[in-house]
Amino acid sequence: MREEIYLDNASTTMAMPSVAEAMRDCMLNDYGNPSSQHSLGEIAAKKLKAAREGIGNALSVNSSEVVFTSGGTEANNLAIFGGAYARKKKGMHCITSTIEHPSVFNAFKRLAKEGWDVSYLPVSSDGFIDLERLSRLLRKDTTLVSIMHVNNEIGSIQPVKEVGKILNGLQNPPLFHVDAVQSFCRYTVNPKEWQAHMVSLSAHKIHASKGVGALFLKKGVKLNSLFSGGAQEAGIRAGTENVPGIVGMVEAVRCLKLKSDWNELNCLRLKRMLFDGLTEAIPEIFLIGPKLEESAYHILSMSLPGVPAEAMQRGLSAWYGVHVGIGAACSSKKKNASHVLDAIGLDPKLARCAIRVSLSQFNTEEQITRSIIAFRECYKRLLR
Ligand SMILES: Cc1ncc(COP(=O)(O)O)c(C=O)c1O
Repeated sequence: MREEIYLDNASTTMAMPSVAEAMRDCMLNDYGNPSSQHSLGEIAAKKLKAAREGIGNALSVNSSEVVFTSGGTEANNLAIFGGAYARKKKGMHCITSTIEHPSVFNAFKRLAKEGWDVSYLPVSSDGFIDLERLSRLLRKDTTLVSIMHVNNEIGSIQPVKEVGKILNGLQNPPLFHVDAVQSFCRYTVNPKEWQAHMVSLSAHKIHASKGVGALFLKKGVKLNSLFSGGAQEAGIRAGTENVPGIVGMVEAVRCLKLKSDWNELNCLRLKRMLFDGLTEAIPEIFLIGPKLEESAYHILSMSLPGVPAEAMQRGLSAWYGVHVGIGAACSSKKKNASHVLDAIGLDPKLARCAIRVSLSQFNTEEQITRSIIAFRECYKRLLR
């Protein structure tokens, strides 16, 4: 049987065995509702409390500042709509970048349709924001600024700490939200150091379950909740908590912390090996976004001119068992090229051939060697 090679970890990840085990145990044994007053409910509530402390510790924040959600999309929507609506009276101007994930980008588009004034901060051709331009966009009525940490398509890493510094230097600082879905457990995510009011996380990007995430919400910051319902999550997010998913998320955080240095070095080595090998095999290859060492260590975005990305993705997967991404997975069914590749001014011809490889701790040197051969053969077959 052929071994499948999974190189699409920015899209989602395989669960770690101990995560699946912790979730299974929780579903079969500790299945009470954490809001119930009986002993099974109390056990579930204890698990939830411990998990909240685990996420709080990972972010160096108080556990009471952690709100569990159904994932990164919900955390982003809660931060943006919840924050904007709660502060409407203070002003209706918001700022975000042109390369945000659709769960942020489209949320701002909706705010604009509802009458908010949204400014889009452009990025350079390698995908970085310009802090001076941000300063120039800020106004007295700016209520919300949302800038992502690591970009999911091209891996650029934004200077969110410097953004926080600029915003906090204002007389009336706007709410600052950071989408840290791609950086959590890969890079240090420290809301206090960033002076952020809200930070979004997702579990399925860190070898835990889909449908689970969290929002760091700074103490004292008021949000309008998105759902009507019970008083869960301090009344901010109604709905019974996904206790098994949350328990799995915190187990993933625990495991990744132990291996984080190794993981970074391993991914960096494999990324360099893959890119060097591909450059030799396919000299036409074009690196998209930041320089290799400047992008997030798990993301490599490149264009293979002359072969449409969808064909390459399907060919690699069906013929060679190598699974890669194209643009953002959640929006890759769209016909037009990604708004991120548009925003960095990439030639549409190159954008149509853009492949994203994203690595994890489970990838090996042998897999990369096989992938280089697969890329070379697949490219040759499809270029004809
Ligand atoms: C940067 C970023 N933000 C948000 C999300 C959405 O997270 P979720 O899939 O948990 O809704 C993703 C997922 O691709 C992402 O990469």
